Amino acid sequence: MSAPIQGGLPALAPSILSADFARLGEQIRMVEGAGAALLHLDVMDGHFVPNLTIGPPVVRSVRAVTSLRLDVHLMIEEPDRHLDAFAEAGADMISVHAEACRHLHRTVTAIRSSGRQAGVVLNPATPLAALDEILSETDYVLLMSVNPGWGGQSFIPSVLGKVASLREALDRAGSGALIEVDGGVTRDNAAALVSAGADLLVAGSAVFGARDPAAAASELLAVMRAGRARGG
Ligand code: DX5
Ligand code: ZN
Repeated sequence: MSAPIQGGLPALAPSILSADFARLGEQIRMVEGAGAALLHLDVMDGHFVPNLTIGPPVVRSVRAVTSLRLDVHLMIEEPDRHLDAFAEAGADMISVHAEACRHLHRTVTAIRSSGRQAGVVLNPATPLAALDEILSETDYVLLMSVNPGWGGQSFIPSVLGKVASLREALDRAGSGALIEVDGGVTRDNAAALVSAGADLLVAGSAVFGARDPAAAASELLAVMRAGRARGG
């Protein structure tokens, strides 16, 4: 990583997709106070995934109210057309789907040239082999543990083994790339994910769907840290 994650690893990235957009600033402050190190922003275009969400103007507004690292997850076709806009809006990390990029190496290289950390995202059905030729250019790998498109879906259990296999592959390759997991993360699977080797966990509904998002975030972090202690 080009800059250490504040608070160390494992780190929690609450996804604002499940937040109340009319009270976004207030909700961001809640999770910031609870120890979240990143904020996950889900960008959907209605083509790569069926849903539509936010674009650079919201990233810019969020940038203005927080010092958390902004982790922008692009679920869009032709992400190259929009990379500069997201970088200029204040993204610190930008991830693109291997399934959406015809020239993945070019896209990842462009993210790095903009001074941002580059992430490669794999859908649940995409094998880890898709990373083979891009790993050395990648700052983090985001493994989807739901099919992207909505918050609040159930975790796909087979992704746990995929995390462990990726951890092994990264260690074998001497890669410093981080592993992020996104989708259906809850207190029930967070420790196992961290213990299998995940560094960053995204959580939307488990945090912002809770009555008290700050308490939910700090409980999730405590579970994650216990998982790291167990996993070594
Ligand atoms: C799903 C998004 C996720 C989503 C996670 O397409 O990429 O980041 O916000 O939401 P939960 O944690 O509710 O599954
Ligand atoms: Zn996401």
